Amino acid sequence: MARIIIDTDPGVDDAIAILLALACPALEVAGLTVVGGNVPQARGVRNALALLEYAGQGDVPVLRGSSRPLPGQGNGKFPYAHHFHGWSGLSRRLPKPRNRPAAGGAVDFLAAQLDAAPGQVHIAALGPLTNLARLERQRPGALSQAASIVVMGGAVDAPGNSTPYAEFNFYSDPAAAQEVLTCGVPLTLVDLAACRQVAIGREAAANLRAPGNRLGQLAAQLAQNWFRREARRERFEFYDPLALAAAIAPEVLTTRRAAVSVATAAGPEWAASRVTAPDGPVAVVERVDAARFFALLREILGWEGV
Ligand code: RIB
Ligand code: CA
Repeated sequence: MARIIIDTDPGVDDAIAILLALACPALEVAGLTVVGGNVPQARGVRNALALLEYAGQGDVPVLRGSSRPLPGQGNGKFPYAHHFHGWSGLSRRLPKPRNRPAAGGAVDFLAAQLDAAPGQVHIAALGPLTNLARLERQRPGALSQAASIVVMGGAVDAPGNSTPYAEFNFYSDPAAAQEVLTCGVPLTLVDLAACRQVAIGREAAANLRAPGNRLGQLAAQLAQNWFRREARRERFEFYDPLALAAAIAPEVLTTRRAAVSVATAAGPEWAASRVTAPDGPVAVVERVDAARFFALLREILGWEGV
C-alpha cells in the first residue's frame, strides 16, 4: 500500500477527495495536515476529525497547520470560501468529533514522516501551500524526500476562480505557492484548466447512488447537498478529487514538464500562475482522461450514475 499525507482545507471537494483516499485499498492515509483556506484552520481540523471518525479511521492523525498565510501578504488572513463551502465547510452535518488533533504541528509531522521513510510517503496538497512552504523554509530539501507530490492549485495560462487570473489556493497564499513551485522539487500541478474537464451536473448528482459503500454514499451526499444550497449552481467541478485521483492513478493525467511561477507582486495579476520555461520541476497537465477518473470514482466510491 502507498502511504500518503493529505494537506487539506476541508471544504466539500477536499472531503470527497479524503473519502476517496480512505476508501482506496491501494492507499494508507498516514495523516491529514490541515491548513486554513476554505474555512478557518480550526474548523478544517474539526471537519477532518469528523470525516475520519465517520469513516471508522479515527486512528489516522490530524495535525494543526497554518491558520494564516506566510507573513507580508495582503491583509495577513486567508480569504475563506464560505460562499462556496458553507459556514461549516461541509455540505452535510457530521457528528461532533470525539477525537482531538494529534500533538505537534503539521510542519513537524511532515518533516518526521519524510525523514522516517525517505522516498516512501506521497503528498497530496489540496489547499493553500502554506504548510509545505513553511516545511521547506524550516527544512530546505525536505519535500524532495516525498515519493511524489501532487498539488491542486493554479490556473496555468487559464482564467482563475478567485480573480480573472488567480485560483483560490494560490490566491490564498501566492508566496507559499511560488516558493513550493520554484524550490526545485518535482511535483504534479493539477490546475483549474485540468479540473474543469471533470464535473458533474445537478441532475446527475441527484441520481448518484453508492449502494453498499458508506464512504461513497457520504461523498455523494456532499455533492448533492452542495447543489441544494443554491438553485443557480449548475456544475460541481472535482478539483481536489482529481488531484487525489492523480496520486492513486497517475495515468489519469498526461503532463509536460515546465517551470511555473506565481505572481507575488501586488496588482491585478496577483497570484496568477504562468509557465516561464519549457522545462522544469512542475508537471503541468496537458490532458485529463475523464473516463478513467470517473471509472475510479465508480470503482473506489461505488458511485453509480457517473
Ligand atoms: O480552487 C479550488 C481549490 O480551492 C480547491 O482545493 C478547493 O477546495 C479550494 O481549496
Ligand atoms: Ca481544497
